[in-house]
Amino acid sequence: MKAFERIYVALDTMDVDYAVDLARKLKGLVGGMKVGKEFFTANGPQGVENITEVGMPVFLDLKFHDIPNTVAGAIRASGKTGAQIVNVHAQGGLGMMKAAAEAGKEAHIPMTIAVTILTAMDQDDLTAIGVNDPIEDQVVRLAKLTQDSGLQGVVCSAKEIAPIRKACGPDFKLIVPGIRPDWAAKGDQKRVMTPSDAVKAGADILVIGRPITQANDPVEAARKIAAELEGL
Ligand code: C5P
Repeated sequence: MKAFERIYVALDTMDVDYAVDLARKLKGLVGGMKVGKEFFTANGPQGVENITEVGMPVFLDLKFHDIPNTVAGAIRASGKTGAQIVNVHAQGGLGMMKAAAEAGKEAHIPMTIAVTILTAMDQDDLTAIGVNDPIEDQVVRLAKLTQDSGLQGVVCSAKEIAPIRKACGPDFKLIVPGIRPDWAAKGDQKRVMTPSDAVKAGADILVIGRPITQANDPVEAARKIAAELEGL
């Protein structure tokens, strides 16, 4: 994997014209773009195709969580948009993730992954839903279950890279948001890591939003981050 291909730009907008314009500018400079529920609910599969048609790979971050049959159908439908990465909630369980893994293969989606515990949840939130183990243990448990299901990796925070890498080995893909180059504002992200530190720690793909999208020159910002990764 080339250094710049590790960068996925988080597009937290529903503006499809802006998204396509940015995709054209950043094509060949980043690995892809991550679009989520806001963009998809506003623009549907056509909105995603508008980006993939430019030649920009898409991580379709819809975090499916339903019965296995429904999730498998949703994954197959995602494949039709040309998305390269799609995901489910690991909390949907082993059967659901196996169905997702199978559907991802059928649909020729290169990476079907899971999210473990949303970082917006703290220990009290877990206790409230009957999970009494420490968050990190639960995250690692769900990552291992994800791997057992045949899915290719998980989305995780920078501080979770080391324990998941240790538990799941070198081939399991780790997709990491909460990334801030030294020169970028932290915004509302509390625990951040620089792109090079995250890759050194074992991240495969970095999800980076505002340091690129809010930069005066997004192309320059993407080049700078890629250059930082080149040197590793
Ligand atoms: O702009 P920024 O780089 O903070 O964007 C990060 C992206 O990753 C956003 O789309 C955010 O929703 C997502 N994300 C995150 N932290 C997580 C999981 C997802 O920031 N733990």
